[in-house]
Amino acid sequence: MRIGIIGAGRIGGNAGRLFARAGHEVLFGFSRDAAKLERLAAEAGAGARVGNPTEAVDFGDVVMLSVPWPAIEAALSVAGPLGGTAVIDTTNRFGPNGPLALPGGLTAAEFNARRMPGARPLKAYNTLTAAFQTEAAGRPEAERVALFYAGEDAAAKATVAGLIADSGFAPVDLGGWADAAIIEAPRRPGSVYGEEYLPEAARAIADAVRRDPAEAARLARETVVAG
Ligand SMILES: NC(=O)c1ccc[n+]([C@@H]2O[C@H](COP(=O)([O-])OP(=O)(O)OC[C@H]3O[C@@H](n4cnc5c(N)ncnc54)[C@H](OP(=O)(O)O)[C@@H]3O)[C@@H](O)[C@H]2O)c1
Repeated sequence: MRIGIIGAGRIGGNAGRLFARAGHEVLFGFSRDAAKLERLAAEAGAGARVGNPTEAVDFGDVVMLSVPWPAIEAALSVAGPLGGTAVIDTTNRFGPNGPLALPGGLTAAEFNARRMPGARPLKAYNTLTAAFQTEAAGRPEAERVALFYAGEDAAAKATVAGLIADSGFAPVDLGGWADAAIIEAPRRPGSVYGEEYLPEAARAIADAVRRDPAEAARLARETVVAG
Protein backbone atom coordinates (compact mmCIF):
# COMPACT_ATOMS: atom_id res chain seq x y z
CA MET A 1 0.00 0.00 0.00
CA ARG A 2 1.12 3.60 -0.59
CA ILE A 3 1.02 5.94 2.39
CA GLY A 4 1.56 9.69 2.09
CA ILE A 5 2.57 11.36 5.35
CA ILE A 6 1.90 15.06 5.92
CA GLY A 7 4.16 16.14 8.78
CA ALA A 8 7.14 13.87 9.17
CA GLY A 9 7.96 14.57 12.80
CA ARG A 10 8.07 12.30 15.82
CA ILE A 11 4.74 10.52 15.22
CA GLY A 12 4.57 10.64 11.41
CA GLY A 13 8.27 9.88 11.04
CA ASN A 14 8.10 6.84 13.28
CA ALA A 15 4.87 5.51 11.78
CA GLY A 16 6.31 5.97 8.29
CA ARG A 17 9.43 4.02 9.22
CA LEU A 18 7.27 1.21 10.62
CA PHE A 19 5.04 1.14 7.52
CA ALA A 20 8.08 1.06 5.20
CA ARG A 21 9.69 -1.73 7.20
CA ALA A 22 6.47 -3.72 6.86
CA GLY A 23 6.80 -3.46 3.07
CA HIS A 24 4.59 -0.46 2.33
CA GLU A 25 5.64 2.46 0.15
CA VAL A 26 5.86 5.73 2.05
CA LEU A 27 6.20 9.35 0.98
CA PHE A 28 7.29 11.72 3.75
CA GLY A 29 5.64 15.00 2.83
CA PHE A 30 7.04 18.09 4.43
CA SER A 31 9.64 19.31 6.82
CA ARG A 32 11.28 22.74 6.78
CA ASP A 33 14.49 20.75 7.19
CA ALA A 34 15.02 18.97 3.87
CA ALA A 35 18.03 17.08 5.21
CA LYS A 36 15.93 15.67 8.07
CA LEU A 37 13.38 14.43 5.57
CA GLU A 38 16.06 12.76 3.45
CA ARG A 39 17.58 11.13 6.55
CA LEU A 40 14.19 9.83 7.58
CA ALA A 41 13.56 8.32 4.14
CA ALA A 42 17.03 6.76 4.09
CA GLU A 43 16.47 5.21 7.53
CA ALA A 44 13.06 3.91 6.49
CA GLY A 45 14.60 2.05 3.56
CA ALA A 46 13.90 1.29 -0.05
CA GLY A 47 10.14 1.87 0.11
CA ALA A 48 10.46 5.48 1.28
CA ARG A 49 10.79 8.78 -0.54
CA VAL A 50 10.36 12.48 0.20
CA GLY A 51 7.99 15.12 -1.16
CA ASN A 52 5.52 17.81 -0.20
CA PRO A 53 1.96 17.64 1.18
CA THR A 54 0.34 17.76 -2.27
CA GLU A 55 2.52 14.90 -3.43
CA ALA A 56 1.68 12.99 -0.24
CA VAL A 57 -2.02 13.20 -1.15
CA ASP A 58 -1.46 12.28 -4.80
CA PHE A 59 0.77 9.37 -3.77
CA GLY A 60 -1.18 7.90 -0.89
CA ASP A 61 -3.84 5.22 -0.98
CA VAL A 62 -3.89 6.31 2.64
CA VAL A 63 -2.71 9.68 3.98
CA MET A 64 -1.47 10.32 7.52
CA LEU A 65 -1.96 13.84 8.89
CA SER A 66 0.56 14.35 11.68
CA VAL A 67 1.24 18.04 12.23
CA PRO A 68 0.89 20.19 15.36
CA TRP A 69 -2.75 21.19 16.00
CA PRO A 70 -2.22 24.88 15.12
CA ALA A 71 -0.72 23.85 11.73
CA ILE A 72 -3.62 21.62 10.62
CA GLU A 73 -5.50 24.26 8.66
CA ALA A 74 -2.37 25.36 6.77
CA ALA A 75 -1.28 21.79 6.10
CA LEU A 76 -4.68 20.80 4.71
CA SER A 77 -4.86 23.91 2.60
CA VAL A 78 -1.44 23.25 1.03
CA ALA A 79 -2.25 19.56 0.58
CA GLY A 80 -5.34 20.35 -1.50
CA PRO A 81 -8.43 18.21 -2.09
CA LEU A 82 -8.27 14.84 -0.37
CA GLY A 83 -10.96 13.18 -2.49
CA GLY A 84 -12.26 10.05 -0.81
CA THR A 85 -8.89 9.17 0.70
CA ALA A 86 -8.65 7.48 4.09
CA VAL A 87 -6.80 9.97 6.30
CA ILE A 88 -5.20 8.85 9.56
CA ASP A 89 -5.42 11.84 11.88
CA THR A 90 -2.83 11.55 14.67
CA THR A 91 -3.32 15.05 16.04
CA ASN A 92 -4.24 16.15 19.53
CA ARG A 93 -5.91 19.45 20.38
CA PHE A 94 -2.98 21.18 22.03
CA GLY A 95 -2.32 24.87 21.50
CA PRO A 96 0.66 26.82 22.80
CA ASN A 97 -0.92 27.03 26.27
CA GLY A 98 -2.32 23.51 26.60
CA PRO A 99 -5.53 21.71 25.58
CA LEU A 100 -7.96 23.74 23.46
CA ALA A 101 -11.74 23.77 23.91
CA LEU A 102 -13.59 22.93 20.71
CA PRO A 103 -16.89 24.48 19.62
CA GLY A 104 -20.12 22.59 20.18
CA GLY A 105 -18.47 19.98 22.40
CA LEU A 106 -17.19 18.16 19.32
CA THR A 107 -14.52 15.53 19.72
CA ALA A 108 -11.24 16.55 18.11
CA ALA A 109 -11.74 13.67 15.69
CA GLU A 110 -15.06 15.03 14.45
CA PHE A 111 -13.84 18.62 14.46
CA ASN A 112 -11.01 17.64 12.12
CA ALA A 113 -13.23 15.37 10.02
CA ARG A 114 -15.33 18.44 9.21
CA ARG A 115 -12.15 20.13 7.95
CA MET A 116 -11.66 17.31 5.42
CA PRO A 117 -14.85 17.25 3.35
CA GLY A 118 -15.16 14.18 1.14
CA ALA A 119 -12.27 12.36 2.79
CA ARG A 120 -12.61 9.32 5.04
CA PRO A 121 -10.76 10.35 8.20
CA LEU A 122 -9.86 8.18 11.17
CA LYS A 123 -8.31 9.05 14.49
CA ALA A 124 -5.37 6.79 15.36
CA TYR A 125 -1.76 6.80 16.63
CA ASN A 126 -2.68 9.70 18.94
CA THR A 127 -2.96 8.12 22.40
CA LEU A 128 0.63 6.95 22.95
CA THR A 129 3.74 9.10 23.00
CA ALA A 130 6.02 8.99 20.00
CA ALA A 131 8.87 7.67 22.17
CA PHE A 132 6.66 4.86 23.46
CA GLN A 133 5.39 4.01 19.96
CA THR A 134 8.99 3.77 18.78
CA GLU A 135 10.01 1.52 21.66
CA ALA A 136 6.87 -0.66 21.86
CA ALA A 137 6.14 -1.44 18.18
CA GLY A 138 6.39 -5.10 17.28
CA ARG A 139 6.25 -6.66 20.73
CA PRO A 140 5.53 -10.40 20.75
CA GLU A 141 1.88 -11.28 20.15
CA ALA A 142 1.00 -11.89 23.82
CA GLU A 143 2.40 -8.49 24.84
CA ARG A 144 1.23 -6.45 21.85
CA VAL A 145 0.30 -2.90 22.74
CA ALA A 146 -3.26 -1.91 21.85
CA LEU A 147 -3.63 1.01 19.46
CA PHE A 148 -7.11 2.50 19.40
CA TYR A 149 -8.70 3.90 16.26
CA ALA A 150 -12.04 5.61 15.61
CA GLY A 151 -13.87 6.63 12.47
CA GLU A 152 -17.13 6.56 10.59
CA ASP A 153 -16.18 4.70 7.40
CA ALA A 154 -16.07 0.92 7.73
CA ALA A 155 -13.84 0.28 4.71
CA ALA A 156 -11.32 2.94 5.76
CA LYS A 157 -11.32 1.45 9.25
CA ALA A 158 -10.56 -2.02 7.90
CA THR A 159 -7.67 -0.66 5.84
CA VAL A 160 -6.20 1.29 8.72
CA ALA A 161 -6.62 -1.63 11.14
CA GLY A 162 -4.38 -3.59 8.77
CA LEU A 163 -1.78 -0.81 8.78
CA ILE A 164 -1.85 -0.61 12.58
CA ALA A 165 -1.21 -4.36 12.74
CA ASP A 166 1.56 -4.07 10.15
CA SER A 167 3.22 -1.35 12.23
CA GLY A 168 3.42 -3.70 15.19
CA PHE A 169 0.40 -2.86 17.36
CA ALA A 170 -2.95 -4.52 18.08
CA PRO A 171 -5.70 -2.48 16.38
CA VAL A 172 -8.73 -1.84 18.60
CA ASP A 173 -11.84 -0.26 17.08
CA LEU A 174 -13.13 2.31 19.53
CA GLY A 175 -16.15 3.33 17.47
CA GLY A 176 -17.18 6.57 15.80
CA TRP A 177 -16.82 10.28 16.43
CA ALA A 178 -19.33 10.37 19.26
CA ASP A 179 -17.32 7.73 21.12
CA ALA A 180 -13.89 9.22 20.54
CA ALA A 181 -13.55 11.46 23.61
CA ILE A 182 -12.05 8.62 25.65
CA ILE A 183 -9.07 8.38 23.25
CA GLU A 184 -8.48 12.12 23.14
CA ALA A 185 -6.28 14.54 25.06
CA PRO A 186 -5.82 15.61 27.75
CA ARG A 187 -4.66 12.72 29.94
CA ARG A 188 -7.17 12.24 32.75
CA PRO A 189 -8.55 9.45 34.95
CA GLY A 190 -11.08 7.29 33.12
CA SER A 191 -9.72 8.02 29.64
CA VAL A 192 -7.28 5.84 27.71
CA TYR A 193 -5.35 8.79 26.31
CA GLY A 194 -1.68 8.49 27.27
CA GLU A 195 -2.11 4.98 28.68
CA GLU A 196 -0.98 1.50 27.66
CA TYR A 197 -3.38 -1.46 27.40
CA LEU A 198 -3.13 -5.04 26.30
CA PRO A 199 -5.53 -5.95 23.47
CA GLU A 200 -8.11 -7.86 25.50
CA ALA A 201 -8.48 -5.06 28.03
CA ALA A 202 -8.61 -2.46 25.26
CA ARG A 203 -11.36 -4.38 23.45
CA ALA A 204 -13.40 -4.58 26.67
CA ILE A 205 -13.10 -0.80 27.05
CA ALA A 206 -14.15 -0.27 23.43
CA ASP A 207 -17.13 -2.60 23.92
CA ALA A 208 -18.24 -0.63 26.97
CA VAL A 209 -17.81 2.89 25.55
CA ARG A 210 -21.15 3.09 23.77
CA ARG A 211 -23.35 1.05 26.09
CA ASP A 212 -21.95 2.15 29.46
CA PRO A 213 -19.41 5.02 29.52
CA ALA A 214 -19.01 4.76 33.30
CA GLU A 215 -18.04 1.11 32.92
CA ALA A 216 -15.59 2.06 30.14
CA ALA A 217 -14.03 4.64 32.46
CA ARG A 218 -13.77 2.08 35.26
CA LEU A 219 -12.10 -0.44 32.95
CA ALA A 220 -9.77 2.28 31.64
CA ARG A 221 -8.60 2.96 35.20
CA GLU A 222 -8.42 -0.65 36.35
CA THR A 223 -6.88 -2.41 33.37
CA VAL A 224 -4.18 0.08 32.44
CA VAL A 225 -0.68 -1.38 32.23
CA ALA A 226 1.19 0.19 35.12
CA GLY A 227 4.39 2.01 34.37
N1 LIG B 1 4.85 13.58 20.13
C1 LIG B 1 3.98 12.75 20.68
O1 LIG B 1 4.32 12.02 21.61
C2 LIG B 1 2.57 12.66 20.14
C3 LIG B 1 1.80 11.55 20.51
C4 LIG B 1 0.53 11.39 19.95
C5 LIG B 1 0.02 12.35 19.07
N2 LIG B 1 0.78 13.45 18.77
C6 LIG B 1 0.17 14.44 17.88
O2 LIG B 1 0.62 14.16 16.55
C7 LIG B 1 0.84 15.39 15.84
C8 LIG B 1 2.30 15.45 15.43
O3 LIG B 1 3.08 15.43 16.61
P1 LIG B 1 4.66 15.25 16.57
O4 LIG B 1 5.10 15.13 17.98
O5 LIG B 1 5.04 14.22 15.58
O6 LIG B 1 5.09 16.69 16.04
P2 LIG B 1 6.52 17.15 15.49
O7 LIG B 1 7.56 16.18 15.91
O8 LIG B 1 6.66 18.57 15.87
O9 LIG B 1 6.35 17.02 13.93
C9 LIG B 1 5.38 17.78 13.23
C10 LIG B 1 5.70 17.72 11.77
O10 LIG B 1 4.77 18.53 11.07
C11 LIG B 1 5.48 19.41 10.21
N3 LIG B 1 4.71 20.60 9.96
C12 LIG B 1 4.60 21.72 10.70
N4 LIG B 1 3.81 22.62 10.10
C13 LIG B 1 3.40 22.05 8.95
C14 LIG B 1 2.57 22.49 7.87
N5 LIG B 1 1.97 23.67 7.88
N6 LIG B 1 2.38 21.65 6.84
C15 LIG B 1 2.94 20.42 6.82
N7 LIG B 1 3.74 19.95 7.81
C16 LIG B 1 3.96 20.76 8.85
C17 LIG B 1 6.77 19.67 10.93
O11 LIG B 1 7.75 20.20 10.06
P3 LIG B 1 9.23 20.58 10.58
O12 LIG B 1 10.01 19.30 10.47
O13 LIG B 1 9.67 21.62 9.68
O14 LIG B 1 9.07 21.02 12.02
C18 LIG B 1 7.11 18.28 11.43
O15 LIG B 1 7.69 17.49 10.43
C19 LIG B 1 0.46 16.52 16.80
O16 LIG B 1 -0.84 16.96 16.53
C20 LIG B 1 0.55 15.87 18.19
O17 LIG B 1 -0.36 16.45 19.12
C21 LIG B 1 2.05 13.62 19.25
